[in-house]
Amino acid sequence: MIKRGRRIRETAAIRAMVRENILTANDFIYPIFVVEGENIKEEIKSMEGNYHWSIDRLEEVITEVVNCGIRGIILFGIPDIKDECGSSAFDSDGIVQKAIKKVREISKDLYIITDVCMCQYTIHGHCGILDGHRIDNDATLEKLGQIALSHAKAGADMVAPSDMMDGRIGFIRNVLDSNGFTHVAIMSYAAKYASAFYGPFREAAHSAPQFGDRKSYQMDPANGREALREINMDIEEGADIIMVKPALSYLDIVRKAKDVVDVPICVYNVSGEYSMIKAAAKAGLMNEKATALEMLLSMKRAGADIIITYYALEASKWLEETN
Ligand code: PBG
Repeated sequence: MIKRGRRIRETAAIRAMVRENILTANDFIYPIFVVEGENIKEEIKSMEGNYHWSIDRLEEVITEVVNCGIRGIILFGIPDIKDECGSSAFDSDGIVQKAIKKVREISKDLYIITDVCMCQYTIHGHCGILDGHRIDNDATLEKLGQIALSHAKAGADMVAPSDMMDGRIGFIRNVLDSNGFTHVAIMSYAAKYASAFYGPFREAAHSAPQFGDRKSYQMDPANGREALREINMDIEEGADIIMVKPALSYLDIVRKAKDVVDVPICVYNVSGEYSMIKAAAKAGLMNEKATALEMLLSMKRAGADIIITYYALEASKWLEETN
């Protein structure tokens, strides 16, 4: 045999030298859920190890994030009041707007990203303004623009629209620019699928649609080429970073995108991907650390530059131990 694959797997030293991909805390963005009220740190039952935080207790988690070497967070707000058009989403005194200011007080360097969407803020739980039972795309754009602007005014570094309305990236870019926020970046949830893997999140964010589903705006899991069309449209409209979501079942999309686009690619390692490993580990079926790190590494190998993950804190600590 002239060719033997095992020679370069013989020792830890050679394996380390030929390793093609590595994970570091720089790769991770940690999602944080903020709620109104005081002195709240309440575990989200469907997503063990993740919490609802009131603003006055954010320092605890932000300090941990920073100590883990994580550079960015994405904020999700759970408001007290919901209405038909999601007004609390763009209130200058809304939950996310207050959280941004608080995080900035605690850390001046932590990169603050905000989720821009309406589903947590509307009574009906859909990601846009309704016209009967249809989601009115263009009326929704106005609201998304207002939400993004209010986040920028509060001090967000980057806004991340997750609604999947057509034309929202260009619309938001325009609103930000014409209000003097040319420096605020946009990360587009460009290829967001109508996925069952969001199940645990909907409990965390109280954002389940009250009728129907999200299939008229989120993508069909059967489609791959359509994702590239969505991604290209968002880049043309000014997206600085594009996202594929969920991650694990969509790594083919990540690879396809990586081969053809030149902006950074983020993946969202969603709630279901997290909670299924937690549950399997709890049942004694798998080693949690090894499985979670392998899952995250597979995302990088597929082409992800950044990973939003509920494992960010744990994974950063695990990597510290192994390095
Ligand atoms: C809101 C939103 C969702 C997630 C992120 N932003 C839920 C949805 O679209 O139903 C899912 C995140 C996760 O499952 O971890 N538009």
